[in-house]
Amino acid sequence: MSLWKHHQRFERNSILLIFGILIVIAIGGLVEIAPLFYLKSTIEKVDGVRPYTPLELIGRDIYVKEGCYSCHSQMVRALRDEVERYGPYSLAAESIYDHPFQWGSKRTGPDLARVGGKYSDDWHFQHLNDPRSVVPTSIMPSYPWLAKNRVPLDDVESRMKILAFLGVPYTKEMIANAKNDLQQQAQKDSPDADELRSRYPKAVVGEFDGNPGYVSEADALIAYLQMLGTLVDFKTFNNKANLR
Ligand code: HEC
Repeated sequence: MSLWKHHQRFERNSILLIFGILIVIAIGGLVEIAPLFYLKSTIEKVDGVRPYTPLELIGRDIYVKEGCYSCHSQMVRALRDEVERYGPYSLAAESIYDHPFQWGSKRTGPDLARVGGKYSDDWHFQHLNDPRSVVPTSIMPSYPWLAKNRVPLDDVESRMKILAFLGVPYTKEMIANAKNDLQQQAQKDSPDADELRSRYPKAVVGEFDGNPGYVSEADALIAYLQMLGTLVDFKTFNNKANLR
């Protein structure tokens, strides 16, 4: 009976009820969320995950600038049908250096978290230029200006410095070599390819847009698409990520 008496006060005073609800929800929220900041296993470290190369980083910025995320997600959910279609489900560590991450939930087009290596550079170039030339029923917009626009070389260092400030482990050496690394990655048979790979393991070097003249936005975007989901070796990674 006495419990009912106390409750009556809340039920008769809506302002008191609102504060009561807020306090109870806040306690529930703290209990659920606070431990995540202290648990080591929230984002487990995974071998192979590295920061983006300067060219991939510019490509990622173009991906965001062009709004590709409004139709594409980048997170394979831990569900059987997703894993059958796209490959091993996404790990939190795979987007640890993404600011902001591109997980998303809107899928007008397919998820792109594991698109790296699925198609040739040439396919991507044709597809970005005119999607219907390779997928006749596609409703994806064409992005013909990507091949024409040059990538600005002067601000890649400052982009990396800002990310370093946010916690991405770009070293002084990486930042000092950024401009050269950017150009070398977009050059077939680049003499500095090994040096680039010593800083960024598995970096793919090539003439992504087939045009050796200059580093275009298409070069950067394709370099980015081709590395998505390729850093972790799921043959050796053991957390039942295959669900098969
Ligand atoms: C209006 C929605 C829309 C936007 C915006 C969009 N796409 Fe797509 N995308 C699609 C659809 C639909 C498909 C599937 C048909 C096809 O392959 O063209 C697709 C397919 C793709 C594929 C092939 C995926 C696969 O596994 O077959 C890639 C890669 C891709 N898009 C990249 C991009 C990039 C990069 C951008 C931004 C420059 C972009 N998309 C913007 C709708 C979109």
